[in-house]
Amino acid sequence: MASVLLLGAVAVMLHLASISAAQPDHGCKTHCGNVEIPYPFGIGIGCAMDQGFELNCSRSVDGNDKPFLLRREIVSISLSRGQSRALSRIPSYCYNPSTGTMDSKIWEFELSWPYRFSNVDNNFVTIGCNTIGYIYKTNGMTRDATGCVSVCGSPADLTNGSCVGVGCCQNVVPKGLMGYNVYFYDVDYVNKTRETNSWYFNPCSYAGLVETEAFIFSSDYVTTTRFNDTYNGRQPVVLDWVIGNATCEAARTNMSSYACRGGNTVCVDSSNGPGYRCNCSIGYQGNPYLSGGCTDVNECQRSPSPCPESASCENTAGGYQCSCPFGSNFSNETNTCTNRFIGVVIGLSSGIGVLFLASISVLLVQKWKRSTKKRVRKAHFRKNNGLLLEQLNSSDESATHSSKIFSLDELEKATDNFDSTRILGLGAHGTVYKGILSDQRVVAIKKSKMVDQIEIDQFVNELAILSQIHHRNVVKLYGCCLESEVPLLVYEFISSGTLSELLHGDQLSARSLLTWHDRIRIASEAASALAYLHSAAATPIFHRDVKSDNILLTDNFTAKVADFGASRSISIDETCVVTAVQGTFGYLDPEYYHTCQLTEKSDVYSFGVIIAELLTRKQPIFLNSRGEKQNLCYHFVRRLQDNTMMEIVDVQILEEGNDRQISEVAALARACLKHKGEERPTMKEVVHRLQLLRGKMSMKKNHELEVDNEAGPL
Ligand SMILES: *[C@@H]1O[C@H](CO)[C@@H](O)[C@H](O)[C@H]1NC(C)=O
Ligand SMILES: *[C@@H]1O[C@H](CO)[C@@H](O)[C@H](O)[C@H]1NC(C)=O
Ligand SMILES: *[C@@H]1O[C@H](CO)[C@@H](O)[C@H](O)[C@H]1NC(C)=O
Ligand SMILES: *[C@@H]1O[C@H](CO)[C@@H](O)[C@H](O)[C@H]1NC(C)=O
Ligand SMILES: *[C@@H]1O[C@H](CO)[C@@H](O)[C@H](O)[C@H]1NC(C)=O
Ligand SMILES: *[C@@H]1O[C@H](CO)[C@@H](O)[C@H](O)[C@H]1NC(C)=O
Ligand SMILES: *[C@@H]1O[C@H](CO)[C@@H](O)[C@H](O)[C@H]1NC(C)=O
Ligand SMILES: *[C@@H]1O[C@H](CO)[C@@H](O)[C@H](O)[C@H]1NC(C)=O
Ligand SMILES: *[C@@H]1O[C@H](CO)[C@@H](O)[C@H](O)[C@H]1NC(C)=O
Repeated sequence: MASVLLLGAVAVMLHLASISAAQPDHGCKTHCGNVEIPYPFGIGIGCAMDQGFELNCSRSVDGNDKPFLLRREIVSISLSRGQSRALSRIPSYCYNPSTGTMDSKIWEFELSWPYRFSNVDNNFVTIGCNTIGYIYKTNGMTRDATGCVSVCGSPADLTNGSCVGVGCCQNVVPKGLMGYNVYFYDVDYVNKTRETNSWYFNPCSYAGLVETEAFIFSSDYVTTTRFNDTYNGRQPVVLDWVIGNATCEAARTNMSSYACRGGNTVCVDSSNGPGYRCNCSIGYQGNPYLSGGCTDVNECQRSPSPCPESASCENTAGGYQCSCPFGSNFSNETNTCTNRFIGVVIGLSSGIGVLFLASISVLLVQKWKRSTKKRVRKAHFRKNNGLLLEQLNSSDESATHSSKIFSLDELEKATDNFDSTRILGLGAHGTVYKGILSDQRVVAIKKSKMVDQIEIDQFVNELAILSQIHHRNVVKLYGCCLESEVPLLVYEFISSGTLSELLHGDQLSARSLLTWHDRIRIASEAASALAYLHSAAATPIFHRDVKSDNILLTDNFTAKVADFGASRSISIDETCVVTAVQGTFGYLDPEYYHTCQLTEKSDVYSFGVIIAELLTRKQPIFLNSRGEKQNLCYHFVRRLQDNTMMEIVDVQILEEGNDRQISEVAALARACLKHKGEERPTMKEVVHRLQLLRGKMSMKKNHELEVDNEAGPL
């Protein structure tokens, strides 16, 4: 068995060998009539690759040469499709009126190797009324069969062009079909009379394989014999052909028998049975069965040109190249020349461009708004010598910890945008807001009313010095903000209000919250703060606005001097106009009217007024019993001279203190209130005298306690 197969294989190979070397002889006819005959087909021995491809070229009745294969006329041959079109007789089944029987003309169609009926390009068609047409073939072990039923009652049922079962039906062709016999079955056969049967209008039925593309059903194919008359009773049918019986892969193993010749060829396995075909590679054309038969296609000569108009086309082996003018780039996807740069711009702006531009413009507007705001703030900052202060701060390590430049945003946040509910006090020289910083520190933020540039400059300078001063009786300056038009000051928040409020706040109440001891201590503390600033710093700092409003008190009545030097309520100009000092009139150093200058002794004078306030619990400018405005200072000094001072002293003090202490404090006030500055004591001396007094008072108190204790048990 194996040896038989082997022998068979050898025989096949030998056969292949004999054909493979063959190339057509020179002088072989390439045409027969109008039909081109390409190799491997040929007319006569030595012109075809194989017996199967040998054609007869005979003159037909009409006088034209026609190629014949298997006794059938060949209409065309396609190498690239591996197909030939042959004309095939159409089996018919006709009613013979003279005999009253059905005459059938069955044409067998047997193909031989290498041909098969194309299963793709042919259909099995049945034309007629009440007819079953079918083919049935046992091909060795396999059976090939197909068929369909065509029915119709009257000519009116027929639809021209529609082959879907009425007058005409069609079905697919099985793969690898190499021959067929047609069978007809007449549904009406049992009861054929002229009146009842379709043959009355349907003389013939037909069935067979036809080229799908060439066949269009016409309703008169049923009612006349036109279908048989076309092509003289024949119809084109498509035949697939192959080279050899092997696959491409197997065929390539023996190059001498391999039919695909030269370069630029491809081998194609048949989809309709065994065997292969050859084709030229993409970009090449010609005959793949001839050596060097596939030649390059010059795509550039195609009309229209494959390249864009502006580009030049260059033919390449198996292809072409489009070269766009300089600066532009060929895109084979759009088959256009695109300007490299403009392309990018257009691409960007057209695609996400609209979105992009929209968002950009929104961003720009926002940025512009923000930058304008920022610029304004920066301008204020520069105007407010922020840079100077920054420099000061950064040069002093310790200062950076104690004071800080706040941003306007930060303070706006801390004060709820300077909400009116946050106002702690409205003064002649500004508004004070309560604020809570991000670190939960409670602060007082003072918005000054300064607008004059010189004022601001001086303010900033003093601020720089103040920021470096730490005294337990000076309100701590946390920092400032210079981004607003007028500088903002950020102080520690002192909870219990001002000395003025505590002394004069509730005038009707007989007793102030402040005891005699408290008052002396407060005076002493305030004085020490003033003295410290008069002497401690390299350049003395004068408060310039000492008054009970500026002495703040903590929960336990510790004094904190506020607005130190920073708030310059008195505008010192050349004309010495003091209209702006209404609020602090009662404290103003009388020498100022002559010298137009505030000195450290001016602070001492103002402090004298505060002592007088503490003693009398009267405001610097007060209304007397007759409703007249009185200057406390003037009043107090006159009383001292008249020795009637005790009459205006606060009754609470008369109760709590003794005459000697009161007289001593009164004498200190008198010294501070001297008309001539030089006659007044310095702040340091004031502190000294107050501390001495405090010492004596506490000794006295202790002594009194002892006396009480001794007296107690008695
Ligand atoms: C290849 O084909 C040639 C010619 O047809 C033949 O002589 C040779 O034996 C074959 N070789 C093989 C390996 O099949
Ligand atoms: C070709 O023609 C010759 C003579 O006319 C005939 O004997 C032969 O069978 C024909 N071959 C084919 C394939 O039709
Ligand atoms: C052979 O090549 C041609 C042109 O490249 C193509 O149109 C055709 O489909 C190919 N045939 C097969 C069977 O691949
Ligand atoms: C045959 O046709 C006649 C009328 O022409 C009808 O009476 C009869 O039933 C038919 N027979 C069959 C089997 O259809
Ligand atoms: C059917 O249509 C074809 C062309 O579409 C035409 O040639 C033919 O005459 C038509 N037949 C009838 C019966 O109208
Ligand atoms: C079909 O046409 C051919 C050629 O004209 C003719 O010989 C044949 O008899 C016709 N068949 C029928 C059924 O008309
Ligand atoms: C291919 O096989 C068929 C039958 O199977 C045979 O008739 C034919 O000669 C073979 N062709 C070649 C080239 O081997
Ligand atoms: C198109 O241009 C880009 C850069 O400009 C380049 O990398 C690319 O190779 C060019 N493509 C063609 C087909 O010329
Ligand atoms: C364009 O060219 C590239 C490389 O030359 C190729 O990979 C791609 O398939 C081509 N695209 C089209 C649509 O021709």
